[in-house]
Amino acid sequence: MSMLARAVRCRHTLHVKSNVTISSPRRVKASFMWPFALVLTFILAAFVTTAYFLQVRVRDRALIDRVAAVAKLMDQKLEKDTNMIRAVLHTMQGIPAIAQAFADQDRSALLREAGPLFETLRSEHRITHLYFNNQAMRNLVRLHSPEEYGDEILRATTVQARSQNKTIHGLELGALGTLTLRVVTPWRSAPGVLGYVEMGEEIGHLIEEIHASLSVDLLVLMDKQRLPAPQWEQGLAMLKRQGSWDRFAREVMVAQTMAEIPVAVTDSILAALRVGGTRILSEDGQTLHLAMLPLTDANGQRLGDMVVMRDISGLQRTFQRSIATVTALSLLVGAFVLGLFYFALDRVERDYQRQHDLEHQLLRLDTEHARILQIEKLSALGTMVGEIAHQLNNPLVGVVNLAQLAQREPDNPVRTTELLAEIRQAGQDCHAFIASMLRFAKVSKFDCHSTDMAQVVSETVLMFRQTLRRQIQVEVQLPGEPVILMADPILLRHALFNLLVNAAQATEGEGRIVIGLKAQLHPETGVPGWMLSVRDHGKGIAPEIIDKVFTPFFTTRREGTGLGLPVVQHVALLHQGFVSVKNLPEGGTQFAVWLPQTEPAPV
Ligand SMILES: Nc1ncnc2c1ncn2[C@@H]1O[C@H](COP(=O)(O)OP(=O)(O)O)[C@@H](O)[C@H]1O
Ligand SMILES: [Mg+2]
Repeated sequence: MSMLARAVRCRHTLHVKSNVTISSPRRVKASFMWPFALVLTFILAAFVTTAYFLQVRVRDRALIDRVAAVAKLMDQKLEKDTNMIRAVLHTMQGIPAIAQAFADQDRSALLREAGPLFETLRSEHRITHLYFNNQAMRNLVRLHSPEEYGDEILRATTVQARSQNKTIHGLELGALGTLTLRVVTPWRSAPGVLGYVEMGEEIGHLIEEIHASLSVDLLVLMDKQRLPAPQWEQGLAMLKRQGSWDRFAREVMVAQTMAEIPVAVTDSILAALRVGGTRILSEDGQTLHLAMLPLTDANGQRLGDMVVMRDISGLQRTFQRSIATVTALSLLVGAFVLGLFYFALDRVERDYQRQHDLEHQLLRLDTEHARILQIEKLSALGTMVGEIAHQLNNPLVGVVNLAQLAQREPDNPVRTTELLAEIRQAGQDCHAFIASMLRFAKVSKFDCHSTDMAQVVSETVLMFRQTLRRQIQVEVQLPGEPVILMADPILLRHALFNLLVNAAQATEGEGRIVIGLKAQLHPETGVPGWMLSVRDHGKGIAPEIIDKVFTPFFTTRREGTGLGLPVVQHVALLHQGFVSVKNLPEGGTQFAVWLPQTEPAPV
């Protein structure tokens, strides 16, 4: 290989190397897995959280409903008892003996006449209080405590009954701190209002009834400001109940349905419940859900609070179980989806990898192919340079030798003239060779436009006939309709001329050359096109050299340049066509140039 060729090859290798940088395949799993896992975790966490808060809402709603039911039931029961007391008071006013005793403000008569009725009401209807008060609201007689009398009764119910002159009812604290339903009615008679009768019942039993019918525990707390400590302690002793005045800061317990107040119920919990919230407490394996109802007297003044406690231990266990189940299910689904996604991504990544490997292989093949082409070009260049040197060297050696001979015989003008003639012939040979090389070089000017193939053929045949020294028959076989191709007519004439010259040179004696043009698809791509063929009846081409005839400078003729067929091939390639050769079975050779019907791309 020549130095030039080696240098070019070396440079080419470097160039190729710089091209072989292929981007590494994408790490699909790494880039998608984490974001997907994050999104999935977020969705599942949102799902579990939503499920949790839904259950909390359902639980809170249930308690709020229960508290509303407590309030309603309490109201209903108070209403019922109030109506009963009203009826009794009304009936009592219709008893003349009692009316007379009251009109006379006669204490002993009242005790005598109303005593039996009060006893019946106390034993059968839980009535605990019966007062007769005069117009000035001074107590005339207490049926439930006859030894106390003469004091002024200033409780809201009595004050309102007097000021509004109608029956008033309401909850009020009893002397011993017990919560009492009181109904006060003005006792009207012909001369005017005789006074006020008050009947009351302690409502401890109501709390028990509500506890039994609504399955809630209740805790009645009184404001310490409304109930002095000695009074409360007296009540505690009388009702034989346990309790501590200091258990809560602001309030004190006066009734409850539980044996003991849970330790977890503290002042801060009560404060939170007072502003309308709910609380959950766990104690001794029991879970309580707490809410609060305010207790007010007939004046609308706050007396204290009623704490409603619902045992939600079972519900809480179900709640925890269902949240655990939802979480476990979410984790399972998450793991499953993540697994599926992982496998899908794994497949995509493997496909990527395969594609990447293929690209790599293709690029390598491409690179190798380019290198081989380069080597072939360089070796063709080497051959060409060698051939040119050879073609020029032979006549030049002749010129040098002939000139030496002429120098040796300066006195022989005849011989010198002969030698000079030979020198001139050698020079002319060189000139002819160089002229054919220049013609070859001209081929690269490519001017493509609509070309009538029939005209190209007829002009070439005309030119060819003028150069022929002997008579050879040329037959032209063209299709009926005109064939117009995008082509360079000068180059096509040049190529066809070379083929005709070769055909003529191959034809010995009488022979016939046939030029044909017929439609033919490209054998590989199927592109429509035309085949321009030149057939002769000559000696044919030996099989061992048929592959070399298109190689530049390959010739079997003594005076040949080996450039005719390379020109033809070059012209065909410029038109994005090709040239083929075959020996015919009947003898002779056919060269054919295939040209595409479509316009060749600009060169
Ligand atoms: N029609 C043909 N019949 C037989 N051999 C041919 C024909 N055309 C070309 N050849 C062979 O191909 C060689 C190369 O042809 P070409 O390139 O035209 O160069 P040249 O004509 O200068 O030899 C010829 O020397 C000849 O051996
Ligand atoms: Mg030739």
